[in-house]
Parts: sequence; C-alpha cells; structure tokens
Amino acid sequence: MRDAGLSLPRNDPRQYDDLAGEWWRPDGAFAMLHWLAQARAALVPPAARPGALLVDLGCGAGLLAPHLAGKGYRHVGVDLTRSALTQAARHGVTVLNGDATAVPLADGCADVVAAGELLEHVPDWRAVVAQACRLLRPGGLLVLDTLNDTALSRLVAVRIAERLPTVPRGIHDPRLFVDDQQLRTECARHGVDLRIRGLRPGVPGLLRWLVRQARGVTTPAGERPRIVPTRSTAVLYQGWGVRGG
Ligand SMILES: C[S@@+](CC[C@H](N)C(=O)[O-])C[C@H]1O[C@@H](n2cnc3c(N)ncnc32)[C@H](O)[C@@H]1O
Repeated sequence: MRDAGLSLPRNDPRQYDDLAGEWWRPDGAFAMLHWLAQARAALVPPAARPGALLVDLGCGAGLLAPHLAGKGYRHVGVDLTRSALTQAARHGVTVLNGDATAVPLADGCADVVAAGELLEHVPDWRAVVAQACRLLRPGGLLVLDTLNDTALSRLVAVRIAERLPTVPRGIHDPRLFVDDQQLRTECARHGVDLRIRGLRPGVPGLLRWLVRQARGVTTPAGERPRIVPTRSTAVLYQGWGVRGG
C-alpha cells in the first residue's frame, strides 16, 4: 500500500494520482468504495424517461458505473482528478474535469445527482449541496453518502481505519466531516427533504475479507463485504431525497 498521505497534506487531491492504480482493484485501497457504490446505486430507480441524466459529483474512476448498468441513465461524472476520470471514461462515464462546487451544466438538467464519499473531502460542502440541488430537476433524486462529524467517526474512519493495511493514510481530513443534521438543513434550504440512515459493512463478510487480505488471498466477487443499514448515523451515513417542485 502506497502511503500517499505521508508525503502530502491530509486530503490533498494529489493523493488520488498517487493511488490511481488502486481504483479498480476490488481488494485494493479503494475496496470499500466499491461496496459503497453498490449500496448507493441500490437507491437509484430505473430511469423514468429516455435520455435521463445521472450526474455523479466527485465520480472518481467511475465505480458507480457497473451498478447502474441497465438502469437507463446517461452517466456524467465530474471530478478534480484527471487520472481518475481517464479510468471513468473507460467504464462508459462521460467525464467533466472540474470542481463539484462549480459544475458547468444547466440548472435542472439531472434526473439523479449522486455524491458518493465526496462531501467529506470538500472544504465547502455546502457549495456542493447547492450545486447538486441546482442541477436536479423538480422531482429529481439526490443520493449521497459521507462521514459524520463526530468523535466516533474520527476514531473509526481515521485513527483505526488508517492503521489497517488496506486504507490509505491521510486520505481524510477529519475537520471536513459533515454533520448529518446540518446536511439535512442545508438540503432542505435547497428544496430537498433528505432522509438519512447509518451504514456499515456487514460484520461476517468484513471479517472474512480482512482474514483473506491478511493472508494475501483474493476474495471472490460474490463474497465481498456488503454495506448494510444501521441505526446509528454516527460514523458513515447515506442520504437520499427528492427535489420538490
Ligand atoms: C473518496 S473519492 C470518491 C470517488 C467516487 N465517488 C466513489 O465513491 O468511488 C473522492 C473523489 O472526490 C474527488 N474530489 C475531491 N474534491 C473535489 C471537488 N471539489 N470537486 C470534484 N471532485 C472532487 C476526488 O478527486 C476523488 O475522486
């Protein structure tokens, strides 16, 4: 595992260039992003009209793409990191290199806006929420997941997770974590009534995966950990809501 965070400041986007080879390794540094992408896509219904557009803010290398297959969306991804976008394009994503706080797309163009594991990386997450809601057409769906601004989240997602051999050190800056109630309030201000639930990896699958990782054994696709809902939103949570007319 390359420790990009040892030579770069926490949350420096250049870490994603150093880790570019990890995106599509299912057991690599971004393994959990694959599990989360599956859980996020499960909230996205099949497109209700031909040509429906899904805008994926902070799309990275397009890990959401395989989970949207057959749902009927044009998948447009926006990200700061060119090395990730090159890979997203290979997976069928139409890519835009830019900042999720200033997206060069028209108001109301999107049937769905996704923001997976993005808000906790952006100094001004409120500006991303404003963009996401601006892009949504009335009746459009916002789906996101992020890390909560709690002591438990800082302990689990930074102090503990970054000691595991499979998690990049320095990828998160805990000062950017997002309070779930503040996020709900901000979405409501922009016309989206966000529902929220906690998420965690299923424990038996996670333990089996960790043991295999320690032994250097690849986990078969059907046996990778699943992300499941959990009552507490204190660490990782998912939000979804429809933009009012
Ligand atoms: C943790 S990754 C998540 C990637 C993807 N959503 C996924 O779940 O696989 C965070 C991504 O956000 C991107 N990013 C960070 N700040 C951004 C910003 N202000 N605008 C656009 N992308 C940003 C990074 O380049 C990186 O690809």
